[in-house]
Amino acid sequence: MAERVVLAYSGGLDTSVGIGWLKDATGKEVVALAIDVGQSGEDMDLIRQRALDCGAVEAIVVDAKDEFASDYVVPALKANALYQKRYPLVSALSRPLIAKYLASTAKELGADSVAHGCTGKGNDQVRFEAAVAALAPELTSLAPVRDFALTRDKAIEYAAVHNLPIAQSKKSPYSIDQNVYGRAVETGFLEDPWNAPIEDLYTYTQDPAVTREATEVVVSFDQGVPVAIDGVRVTPLQAIEMMNLLAGNQGVGRIDIVEDRLVGIKSREVYEAPAGIALIAAHEELENMTIERDLARYKRGVESKWAELVYDGLWFSGLKRALDVFIDETQKHVTGDVRLKLHGGTAVVTGRKSTQSLYDFNLATYDTRDTFDQSMAKGFIELWSLPSKISARRDLAGK
Ligand code: ARG
Repeated sequence: MAERVVLAYSGGLDTSVGIGWLKDATGKEVVALAIDVGQSGEDMDLIRQRALDCGAVEAIVVDAKDEFASDYVVPALKANALYQKRYPLVSALSRPLIAKYLASTAKELGADSVAHGCTGKGNDQVRFEAAVAALAPELTSLAPVRDFALTRDKAIEYAAVHNLPIAQSKKSPYSIDQNVYGRAVETGFLEDPWNAPIEDLYTYTQDPAVTREATEVVVSFDQGVPVAIDGVRVTPLQAIEMMNLLAGNQGVGRIDIVEDRLVGIKSREVYEAPAGIALIAAHEELENMTIERDLARYKRGVESKWAELVYDGLWFSGLKRALDVFIDETQKHVTGDVRLKLHGGTAVVTGRKSTQSLYDFNLATYDTRDTFDQSMAKGFIELWSLPSKISARRDLAGK
């Protein structure tokens, strides 16, 4: 039997042509694997058929939307994960999931290698290959676009010569990656970082500048996981889908950033992630109310490290796993409701309540119900500033 390679298949030009290229270059049979993470473009059956028409021996479609939401997006929400404080890791979260299915499918079908359609300039190649290495070290990773220097023009020519069923005319000038958590748009006129994004780029969000009435929504969390919207129980996937609509309609979650890629290149990226931006705002504020001071402060540092690890393709690493344990421990009391006002591109918290709250009205109030003994503050400050006072005496004496 011929050797087999499992290709992460999107249905687009590069991976469609990639099937033939891989076959020609390696002599291996190509199994196409399409993972549905809520990219909601084309019908997955159509994509499956296209893979077969392009020469795959087998084409497999996996609906991984719920798994993606529960096991990849939820940990990112618990971590308030924003790379460079802005990017909610949309693409970075989907790669380890796709890689997991690449590895398990390869094992199941006795393939000795996996493949993806990434170029040599981006983060996604690293994420796929680092994840596969961590899950199935015996597998080899192939990257036809990168390793056989396949340009777009060559791909178009190959598709024409081999009569592949790929509609070229509808090709957008942008490189787009999308899933239920958001969209990433790159290239085209955006490569000049001075060029402002145009309305055309966006599909998950409406123009925030258009006047419309504000939307109020209450998000309920249970141990850091969104479990209800306006009192209606939801799965993580449903929470993300509903918040995409509510926040997206108010133009929430548009991001325009020059980003530091792992390979050292700075790149201009436009994202939209309405649910992500709104849910992180709500979740972070509920933490402010339910997590004790030192733990909350320390967690903010862990969050940025977590985001960097995931951005850098180290989802399946020991450090990431250990930080997950820490983050889960911090979420034990992050249970309660947050009211958000969505308007003009912003998601603003206007109320929070929790049975686990550390907010004590009687300690916080300045009215007559005050139970805080202010006389304790005097001695506290005396001791708190004692080291500064002693060293200042020394330093001033030496002058
Ligand atoms: N720069 C982003 C990231 O590394 C988005 C990559 C999206 N990929 C794409 N083919 N447009 O996460």
